[in-house]
Amino acid sequence: MYRIAPSLLSADFARLGEEVRNVIAAGADWIHFDVMDNHYVPNLTIGPLVCDAIRPHTTAPIDVHLMVKPVDRIIPDFAKAGANVITFHPEASEHVDRSLGLIRDAGCQAGLVFNPATPLHHLDHVMDKLDVVLLMSVNPGFGGQKFIPETLNKLRAARAKLDAYAARSGRRILLEIDGGVKTDNIAEIARAGADTFVAGSAVFGAGRAEDANRYDSIIAALRAELATVAA
Ligand code: DX5
Ligand code: ZN
Repeated sequence: MYRIAPSLLSADFARLGEEVRNVIAAGADWIHFDVMDNHYVPNLTIGPLVCDAIRPHTTAPIDVHLMVKPVDRIIPDFAKAGANVITFHPEASEHVDRSLGLIRDAGCQAGLVFNPATPLHHLDHVMDKLDVVLLMSVNPGFGGQKFIPETLNKLRAARAKLDAYAARSGRRILLEIDGGVKTDNIAEIARAGADTFVAGSAVFGAGRAEDANRYDSIIAALRAELATVAA
């Protein structure tokens, strides 16, 4: 019903394979993989080589969030590196429909990412090519920012669009949220309509590095909050 996707952005980059194994062993569902290019966003992170390097460490889906411009050229590289889901920002692609098609043709699930001020109408004519809609609840580029409350209204609007689409097509598109998700707001975010939760600093900032079980309690706490939300 709900997926928790820890963002590697806040993991220990010197021990990524171990971080991936530990967080999945602790009960996470997806690995969220933030790709930043110092062009579309003012930060620089990791690319296909790192995706390829972590791939043998888990069978869990790797959810690649592209914050890069241009988009298309890098898609096949991530597909080859074992990505399962690839999402991108519509502002970063000249031809959104084509980029979505490239992702699906490469055998991955495809999604669009909406910055806080990006309107949802970008969805309207590409629903059949979407597997995931990702709403940013912070401006992209950095972990550890504060959840922007207006995102709750946007989530409700996106939920309504996706439910209407599911009713007419029989196909369910996931609604993912990214930025500032913590134990004290995840239930409210779920009630607004999200079903997939990226959490970077909340998960990887928890506990002490020498404690092998340090991610268990934070992921259990996030799930306990989600369990309070009526389906
Ligand atoms: C921000 C990234 C997020 C980030 C979330 O641009 O897309 O995935 O890691 O970090 P937290 O959960 O710390 O806000
Ligand atoms: Zn992200």
